[in-house]
Amino acid sequence: MNSKQVVLITGSSTGFGRLFAETMARKGHTVFATMRDPGGRNAKNASEIRALAEKESLPIHVLEMDVTNDISVERAVDAAVAKAGRIDVAINNAGYYLSGLEEAVTTEQAQRLMDTNFLGPVRVNRAVLPHMRRQRGGVLIHVSSGAGRVVLPSAGFYCASKFALEALAEAYSYELAAQGIESVILEPGQYETPVFGNTVTAADEARTNTYGAVKEIPAKINAALSSTAGNAQEVAEAVLRIVETPAGEKQLRYFVGPQDFGLNEINALSKRVQTSMLEAFGLTADTKFLKGKAVGAV
Ligand SMILES: NC(=O)c1ccc[n+]([C@@H]2O[C@H](COP(=O)([O-])OP(=O)(O)OC[C@H]3O[C@@H](n4cnc5c(N)ncnc54)[C@H](OP(=O)(O)O)[C@@H]3O)[C@@H](O)[C@H]2O)c1
Repeated sequence: MNSKQVVLITGSSTGFGRLFAETMARKGHTVFATMRDPGGRNAKNASEIRALAEKESLPIHVLEMDVTNDISVERAVDAAVAKAGRIDVAINNAGYYLSGLEEAVTTEQAQRLMDTNFLGPVRVNRAVLPHMRRQRGGVLIHVSSGAGRVVLPSAGFYCASKFALEALAEAYSYELAAQGIESVILEPGQYETPVFGNTVTAADEARTNTYGAVKEIPAKINAALSSTAGNAQEVAEAVLRIVETPAGEKQLRYFVGPQDFGLNEINALSKRVQTSMLEAFGLTADTKFLKGKAVGAV
């Protein structure tokens, strides 16, 4: 694989996604910075990115992609492949935080969250994988969260969306290794991005109001998260290191955060438990086993 990669990023209008795009393009990687509605709600963000690319001669191309829409996802992936001939890395970054007591989250809010944070990556992976399989190589990066491993009250639905993403990404890692495709999970802790301003709040206030002192928990947690948030560029540097790690040498999980809270310990334990379970089932977490099996190309 060429050391300069073709990288497609979801949710590049602001925050991590935008930093990933700029950081990787500055290292010479070709970036498809996808976002919702670059001609409307994100027109300013899109034109700032294009202006930066022009000013610094960076290989960044802005494409429209709403991760909740199959056709939009397929169009963006096709456009990237038509332009660059391949996609080496897909970064599933688009997502948002939903805050509030679980009983006060409506079914519609829960569905919308899962449609973005979980089904978004499902759509993107299904669109890019045929290209990666043809290339016999590629990397799927999933931006989970520390909240994809531990649970905070008033973040239950957000945690559920990231736990679901982690399960999918891990299963992919076992299934795709034989074809030279890596599936990686990035777990950021709390970082300063527009995420806090973009947070959706549980809609059913009548239910929230029956919880007494417990109803103060979401505000306490949100204040604690935003007041301890780190510099988001750290996460962009971590993604760059992952992308530039040689094929076959990447870890499944990377936690990066201002405070560890024992998350690295959970990941190390999980790796041991997974390995022994897979061995007990006649499989192994060592992908060499899977690599030995014949797998048809698409
Ligand atoms: N910041 C943190 O502390 C933190 C910690 C752990 C994990 N994360 C995760 O990091 C990812 C990026 O968040 P961020 O912190 O950078 O916040 P952000 O600045 O709010 O970025 C979220 C991005 O997702 C996009 N998005 C939302 N719905 C979308 C859709 N349907 N289709 C396409 N794009 C969509 C937003 O686009 P629009 O501009 O169109 O809304 C925006 O570009 C999220 O998955 C988040 O859960 C963040």
